[in-house]
Amino acid sequence: MSTIVLSNLHKRFGDFTAVRNTNLTISAGRFVVLLGPSGCGKTTTLRMIAGLELPTSGQIHIDGEDVTALRARQRDIAFVFQMFALYPHMSVRNNIAFPLKNEGISRREIAARVESAARMLRIENILDRKTGGLSGGDRQRVALGRAIVRHPKAFLMDEPLGTLDADFRELMCLELRKLHNTLKATTIYVTHDQSEAMAMADDVVVMNQGEVLQSASPHEVYHSPATVFVGNFIGSPPMNFLAVDAAVEAGAEQVSLGGAPVAVARVDAYASQSLLGIRPEHVLIDPRAALRGRVIADEYLGSHQILVVETSLGIVRVRVGKDEGRAAGAQVGLSFRKERTLLYDAASGKMLPGAARQMAVNGNGNGDAYV
Ligand SMILES: Nc1ncnc2c1ncn2[C@@H]1O[C@H](COP(=O)(O)OP(=O)(O)OP(=O)(O)O)[C@@H](O)[C@H]1O
Ligand SMILES: [Mg+2]
Repeated sequence: MSTIVLSNLHKRFGDFTAVRNTNLTISAGRFVVLLGPSGCGKTTTLRMIAGLELPTSGQIHIDGEDVTALRARQRDIAFVFQMFALYPHMSVRNNIAFPLKNEGISRREIAARVESAARMLRIENILDRKTGGLSGGDRQRVALGRAIVRHPKAFLMDEPLGTLDADFRELMCLELRKLHNTLKATTIYVTHDQSEAMAMADDVVVMNQGEVLQSASPHEVYHSPATVFVGNFIGSPPMNFLAVDAAVEAGAEQVSLGGAPVAVARVDAYASQSLLGIRPEHVLIDPRAALRGRVIADEYLGSHQILVVETSLGIVRVRVGKDEGRAAGAQVGLSFRKERTLLYDAASGKMLPGAARQMAVNGNGNGDAYV
């Protein structure tokens, strides 16, 4: 188990900045997921940690040692970027043992490590088969076995389930997470799929355009997104954002939305232009509310429904119960759970500090009470 620290890590390709001043601590034994849209710098970050790419500036420390200038081989990290890269003519046993050959490790030790990894991955029964004829799942397990036997300081995985179909992805996600619970090795896993990230991660690192926007638990990135981008990227449907009419003063507990007064959790900073952020499950259909809208669609999802409501401020999505649908065209009033409202600076996109943020981060003993 190793701790990895990135300090002011920066990577330019010519004039283009792929990774911008990243500061990140990946604590020993955590399963950390780098999440963000295509091109945001996930692979570049991972390759710098692995030693496959040199940073333009900044440092990488593994367990306190500065490894910035070390080659990949000297870092003792397993990069599982292509799980299917096996030797088809070799047996499963030899494929798994492969990275240990020429490492000066005794045959007995190699055999013991291969047996142990195979037990963990439940592939003991196929150790003597050639990998060429194996199913996708078994090949993936063999590739993982090959990483495990090295006893690396950390595992790096770059979209390892990228090409698999949905059912199989789900199964492999679960297996990877179970494996992590057994090995407890520091793992950095890259994906652009937010539901995969939320399901697997201890910590989610949300990136965009080369920058880390937030690094926190799945609970915190969902309930207290640091920026408008994070609120939009995480959650399906995303967080609603509505433009506030006037400047917000520090200490405010009410704002005006489309001329309607709306109670909000206390805001601790001034903003000339701001957006109110609210998750669809914290918007309430309320006949007495001053903010009105018209239902334009009702998405039935079995366990619940999403009403799409058109208001003078734009579209608002509302999560309602499975039996609480509304016909398209219905007029509804919308109110918000005051303690779940978050305010964002419109110019920077960053969350304004305030009471709701503190509650979401601290959990307040019942952080999931409304979910
Ligand atoms: N060797 C390179 N030369 C020039 N530009 C590069 C190079 N490698 C990456 N880039 C650029 O840097 C940016 C970040 O790339 P990166 O591969 O890290 O993104 P990513 O988040 O992994 O995206 P994806 O989800 O598509 O894999 C992209 O715009 C990419 O085109
Ligand atoms: Mg990538």
